Amino acid sequence: MKLIDFGVREDEKKYIQEWSRDNNIEVKIVSDLLTPETVKLAQGYDGIVAYQQLPYDEKIFDVMNEYGIHVISLRNVGVDNVPLAALKRNNIRLTNVPSYSPEAIAEYSVAGLMALLRNFKHMFRKVDNHDFRWAPDIGRELNELTVGVAGTGRIGRAAIKIYQGFGAKVIAFNKFHNPDIEKQDLYVDSLDTLLKNSDVVTLHIPSLGKGHTVINRDSISEMKDNAIIVNSARGDLINTKDLYEAVANGKLYGAVMDVYENEVGIFNTDLSDQEFKDDLLKKVIQSPRFILTPHIAFYTTKAVKNMATISLDSMVSELQTGTSENEINLDK
Ligand code: COI
Repeated sequence: MKLIDFGVREDEKKYIQEWSRDNNIEVKIVSDLLTPETVKLAQGYDGIVAYQQLPYDEKIFDVMNEYGIHVISLRNVGVDNVPLAALKRNNIRLTNVPSYSPEAIAEYSVAGLMALLRNFKHMFRKVDNHDFRWAPDIGRELNELTVGVAGTGRIGRAAIKIYQGFGAKVIAFNKFHNPDIEKQDLYVDSLDTLLKNSDVVTLHIPSLGKGHTVINRDSISEMKDNAIIVNSARGDLINTKDLYEAVANGKLYGAVMDVYENEVGIFNTDLSDQEFKDDLLKKVIQSPRFILTPHIAFYTTKAVKNMATISLDSMVSELQTGTSENEINLDK
């Protein structure tokens, strides 16, 4: 068996090399993203592993079919940038890594929230300039707040545990109820009820598709005054302009944004020597009431190792047995 891994960052290499040695399976490491051009490197290989934020071009899958490669394993969880119809048409199976470290994302949520509640961004800026005064950066305490967890999959459930540990009152919403959360009686009947009753809303749901936002002018108007949004899920869940305005005009207290609707081409890129054209993002960066990070909630040693190795394990299972526990149902 010969595998090829695309879009590999430096920090992922050692895990892939280790896996390759331990499993005695050749894995060619390619730093280029998977495109209709680079897919040509896969000729002669049995399976393709990849990760990228840019959309996967449909033509990639026609070429895979031509080369007789019928499995692609992603090193991440989200499949929103994959043209599923093109995979189906070419009889290509897809796997993801649904659980590389739910705790990484859940811990980020609370870390980002704490940074906002204790005004770290403004405080750090002041201290950098040797201004050591307290005011006006008085903090708020998490143990006094109601945290609404939207989505109770693995990440949402890990977040619930952590927030409860901090003494917050936690409520939750999910279309399908998890028995553990049900037992604790945390569920409210709708996302609207969650939004209306939370001081903090932390999003742990997948993208709902372009134009389908959860946080927008209408939903914000229903929220509590001074509420906070934490988004480490998908940027397109939020209308960022509406969110920015709600914070600027004092309706909301602030937000933690690890994802942004227009992040592709910006996040995980060094733009320090370029003119920065995104005016909305510039305002978000300037505001002390926004904690902005470039999609790093997942970025821990544990998660990166799991992403590298679980994707390869799934590929082996697919090639040896025709399926794997992480195969995505393309008919859904
Ligand atoms: C995902 O796993 O889909 C993520 O959002 C993390 C990604 C940036 C590797």
